[in-house]
Amino acid sequence: MCGIIGYAGHRPAVPVVMEGLRRLEYRGYDSAGAAFARQGALRIVRAKGKLAALEEKLAQEPVATATCAMGHTRWATHGIPAERNAHPHCSNDAAIALVHNGIIENYQEIKKELAEKGHVFHSETDTEALVNLIAERRKSEKDLLRAFAVALREVRGAYAVCLMHCEEPETIYAARLSCPLIFGVGAGEHFVASDIPAFLPYTRQVIFLEDGEIVRATATSYEILRLEDLRPIIHEPQTILWDMQAAQKGGYRHFMLKEIFEQPRVLADGLAGRLTAENALLPELDALPVPGKLHIVACGTSWHSGLWGRHLLEHWARIPAQVEIASEFRYRESLLLNRDDMVLVISQSGETADTLAALRRARKQGAMVLGLCNVVGSSIAREASAALYTQAGPEISVASTKAMCSQMLMLALMALYWSERKPADNIDQTSAAFAPEQRRLLIALLESLPALLDAHLPEMHENARGLSRKYADANNFFYLGRGHCFPLALEGALKLKELSYIHAEGYAAGEMKHGPIALIDTLFPTFALALDDALFPKVKSNIVEVQARQGKVIALTNEGLDLTVDDRWVIPSLPAPLSAFMALPALQLFSYEMADYLGKDVDQPRNLAKSVTVE
Ligand code: AGP
Repeated sequence: MCGIIGYAGHRPAVPVVMEGLRRLEYRGYDSAGAAFARQGALRIVRAKGKLAALEEKLAQEPVATATCAMGHTRWATHGIPAERNAHPHCSNDAAIALVHNGIIENYQEIKKELAEKGHVFHSETDTEALVNLIAERRKSEKDLLRAFAVALREVRGAYAVCLMHCEEPETIYAARLSCPLIFGVGAGEHFVASDIPAFLPYTRQVIFLEDGEIVRATATSYEILRLEDLRPIIHEPQTILWDMQAAQKGGYRHFMLKEIFEQPRVLADGLAGRLTAENALLPELDALPVPGKLHIVACGTSWHSGLWGRHLLEHWARIPAQVEIASEFRYRESLLLNRDDMVLVISQSGETADTLAALRRARKQGAMVLGLCNVVGSSIAREASAALYTQAGPEISVASTKAMCSQMLMLALMALYWSERKPADNIDQTSAAFAPEQRRLLIALLESLPALLDAHLPEMHENARGLSRKYADANNFFYLGRGHCFPLALEGALKLKELSYIHAEGYAAGEMKHGPIALIDTLFPTFALALDDALFPKVKSNIVEVQARQGKVIALTNEGLDLTVDDRWVIPSLPAPLSAFMALPALQLFSYEMADYLGKDVDQPRNLAKSVTVE
């Protein structure tokens, strides 16, 4: 998630913008920049790395007179972290500067049209395409506002943008679609920003801009217009009562809760530009061979993602996959025998020592290594033969939540992508690939996930709160699942352990009778994943075995399934394995509410680090 701030007012603008960027640092970034007007031209100053690097450059600039400016902290999605990819980007004629948060799905098409008209590009970003599109439309539109609107109507994807024009040095323009952008109403000054903390010290009067709205503002006036027809819109400013820290969490109690509730957005961003009605689009994989076998290697939650993804890679793409814990893989005589073996390393941070070591070992054996990371330009992303990005935005809370959701989505897209390319099995022609209507149904289901999850998260949260209070005195928990729910059981147990410090074991439900069931008694509850799939009858009988030993059972289940347990937690039903996208947030919320209720440090659990960069 990039950070944007724009300012038009009576103060020296660049210090206001820099202060605002510092308040957006918590969002994570890899480069930054600022723009301001001077003597009829726009000055753009950018730097890779932390804000200090940008401040050093700005110290060389005569910024004192500018009372209008904008700034940006970049979380790389398209194009590696580098000064040339940092924002603001400017049009070829240097008349327009623009900062952007979001993903423009059709930027390649836009760049192609503009290149044919003589535009040149100096970065790999989608943003540079947009600023030049606005400049190109300015040639035929009577003013900048219309050119801005015409260009935005041609864009597909998600954006929050702010722009300035050298001929209007006291004016900022901004607009949003699917990315947050807040307008700050001050006394003789106005702000736009990705998040309230950026300008909270100056004003608590805010307007949450809606999708499809444009704003034009100077120090003393502003207008909000509808993108589709530029008709004026009136929004009454709201008063924000949050303190700074609450504002950084967007009003949520913890970053973890904020990131759980970001998952619909994460799913939408992960799907953006990667699906058509017929297939998955992963250009990063186009030059790679279809793997004959996959060795998935990761740690912790990322390992759970890999265990879940294996079900899709084997069932949808017919690619045999084995999933290994990185700290084991790196020391085992792992046999990457065949030339078409591929190692897939999964890591949110891209810096986990064991996973990086596993990658290096695999590369030393000559294997093709694909990295699936969230942090662009991280060590694993750089050292892999090729990298895919989950685009989940920075994950602040130590407990990984939206990262797993985004990893699972990418694994589903990879399975879909390879299912179209994997030659049919010699052995079993029928199950090798999907029938076209099956594929279309799966794609429609994937596309429905963001809205479905968004609609049900509040109710899930309520259920999690109630159940956590009921079971707060438990000292032990079993989490049981079968098939694709087994990795979810492992993840549910990990979340409970690492957040509330309650001992919890995730188990394959079928394994209980091979010993663990001896532990069950009235004080050892079980959280069973009993979803509507082919294995439900088996899970049901495992639940009965637990109950026969006086074990209490919470069942995460779907409507209409015949199940008698102490607590039924019904979530929306989806065909396996996509039902995992509804089950995962429920498990996350249960552990979150348990930890919060028990008074634990939810965002910074004891003894844990966000990225385990040492063995
Ligand atoms: C999960 O909540 C933990 N934060 C931890 O298990 C984490 O998933 C693991 O350390 C792997 O991190 P990575 O994805 O950054 O490699």
